[in-house]
Amino acid sequence: MVSEKKIALRNAEKYNPIKIDEYIKLGGYKNAQKALKMNPVDIVDLVIDARLRGRGGAGFSAGQKKKYTSEAICDRCIQKYIICNADEGEPGTFKDRVIMEQDPHILLEGMIIGAHAIGATKGFIYVRGEYTDSIYILGIAIEQAKQKGFLGKNIFNSGFDFDIELKLGAGSYLCGEELTLLESLEGKRGYPRIKPPFPAEKGLFGMPTLINNVETFAHIPYIIEYGADHYRTMGTENSPGTKIFTISGDVNKPGYYEVAMGTTLRELVYELAGGIKNNKKFKAAVLGGAAGTFVDETVLDTQMGFDTLKEKGAVLGSGAIMVMSEDRSIFDMTHSILKFFKHESCGKCVPCRIGTAQLMQLMKQTKENGTDRKVLLDQLLSEAEYMAKTSLCPLGQSPIMPIKSLKQYFENQF
Ligand SMILES: Cc1cc2nc3c(=O)[nH]c(=O)nc-3n(C[C@H](O)[C@H](O)[C@H](O)COP(=O)(O)O)c2cc1C
Ligand code: SF4
Repeated sequence: MVSEKKIALRNAEKYNPIKIDEYIKLGGYKNAQKALKMNPVDIVDLVIDARLRGRGGAGFSAGQKKKYTSEAICDRCIQKYIICNADEGEPGTFKDRVIMEQDPHILLEGMIIGAHAIGATKGFIYVRGEYTDSIYILGIAIEQAKQKGFLGKNIFNSGFDFDIELKLGAGSYLCGEELTLLESLEGKRGYPRIKPPFPAEKGLFGMPTLINNVETFAHIPYIIEYGADHYRTMGTENSPGTKIFTISGDVNKPGYYEVAMGTTLRELVYELAGGIKNNKKFKAAVLGGAAGTFVDETVLDTQMGFDTLKEKGAVLGSGAIMVMSEDRSIFDMTHSILKFFKHESCGKCVPCRIGTAQLMQLMKQTKENGTDRKVLLDQLLSEAEYMAKTSLCPLGQSPIMPIKSLKQYFENQF
C-alpha cells in the first residue's frame, strides 16, 4: 500500500496558519536563517544538485532558473524581483491553495531563501483572485512575518532587505502564464509577451525576475535543511522529491495527495483515491489539466514523473488527475476542454482566436450532423497542429496536447 510522503505539505494541519508563533515552534524560519548565512552561489548549487524541477507545469530546473536570474547582468538594473505564481488556473488543480491556506509560512520562507540566492529585494505573490481564504491567510502571514523582522529591512539581522507584496490575479487562465503574469503585475491587460527575453533576463519592469510556482518554493526550505543528497533519495532519477497530485472525477476519495515522484497512476487512483466510484471500470484520466493529455488503462502502471510520462506521450503538468469511469464520454470531455480554450483565448493573435473557435465548430458540427468521428479527430489534429506552429503564446500551442493523446489512446472510442 502506497503511503503519502510530505515535503510541501509537511506542516499542513499541524499549526494554525494565522499564528506565526506556532510555525516557529515547529522549527519554522530556521532554514531561512541558515540560508541567509550561506553564500548565495552555494544555495543555487544546492538546488541544482537536488534536481528540483518546477511544480507549476513545465518541470524546468528550479536551480538553473535561479542561476540564470542570479547571473543576469543588464543595463540600469535597479533591482531583481522574485515572484510566486499562485494563480492556479489549470483545471483540476487545487494544490497551491492547500499550501497557502494550511502552511503560508513555508511559502514565505521559500521565497526569502530564493530572494537571497538571486539577490532580489522585492517579492510578489500573484494569487488567484477567487482564492479569498488564501488571500486572507497570506495577508496575515506577511504582516506577522514583518512584525517579527522576517520581512522588511535587515531581515533576521542579516543586513539583507526583502519584502513581499500580495497581488490579486486578474481572473484569466492566461495570466498564470509567466510573461502574461508580468504584464498583469505591471498593471497592464493580460496579454502575453514574446519570448525571449526570458524573465530571468528581463522580467518585471524590465528587471531580472525569478518566477516559481507555490509548490516549487515550498520545497526549498526542506532542501536547505536536509541537503540535496537526501532530497534525491525520494522520487525518480530525473524527477526527484515529492509531488502533490489533485485527483478529481469518478473516484471514491477525490482530494490532494502528496507522494514521492514515481508513484504509479494505479496507486494514486486505486489506493489513495479509493478506486473508481460504484465499482465501475477505469476508462481514462486526463493528466495535467486542460493543457494536459488523455491516457487509458495501459498507463496505470507508469511511474508519475516528468520523463516517465513523456515516454508514454503524456504529461505530468500541474499534477491534476481527472479520472473518468466507463460511463463517461471522451467526446464530451474533449468538448469541455476545447470550450475552455476558446473561452480563455485572449484573442490577440489570429491562429488561436480563430483556431479555438474552429475547434469548437468542428465538435458542434459533428454532434449535430453525426460526422464520422475518426474524420473529426483528424480534422481537430490538423487544426491544432497549425495552431501549435503559428500561435503567439503557449495557450494557442496547448490544444494539440489533449488532441494528440486522443489519437494515441482513444482513436477507436472517440
Ligand atoms: C496558459 C498557461 C497558464 C499557466 N498557469 C499557471 C498557474 O496558474 N500557476 C503556475 O504556477 N504556473 C502556470 N503556468 C506556468 C508558468 O508559465 C511558469 O512556467 C511557472 O509559473 C514557472 O514556475 P515553476 O518553474 O516553479 O514551475 C501557466 C502556463 C501557461 C502556458
Ligand atoms: S495564442 Fe491565444 S492566448 Fe496566446 S496570444 Fe494568441 S490569442 Fe492570445
